[in-house]
Amino acid sequence: MQVKQMRKKFSKLDKMEMSIWECCELLNEVVDESDPDLDEPQIQHLLQSAEAIRKDYPDQDWLHLTALIHDLGKVLLLPKFGGLPQWAVVDEYINTY
Ligand SMILES: [Fe+2]
Repeated sequence: MQVKQMRKKFSKLDKMEMSIWECCELLNEVVDESDPDLDEPQIQHLLQSAEAIRKDYPDQDWLHLTALIHDLGKVLLLPKFGGLPQWAVVDEYINTY
């Protein structure tokens, strides 16, 4: 599927409605195979990232939130969101869009 088709498919925002935390919890089922330093589910990565940034930048609450949500796009790996292959989802550039 081409990028334009994917953008059209997912930009409708009609797949599901959930809170940020509910989305984080879905990542408890996802391990990023492309990250050799991380064998833990992605929810661990999100929480560790947010906590590390909170420690280093305690007054930048928007940055804590950014760290918490930066990989939520990885839900696309889950079957109920299309079950896309890891190579199509885990790239940091793709995750920011
Ligand atoms: Fe990440």
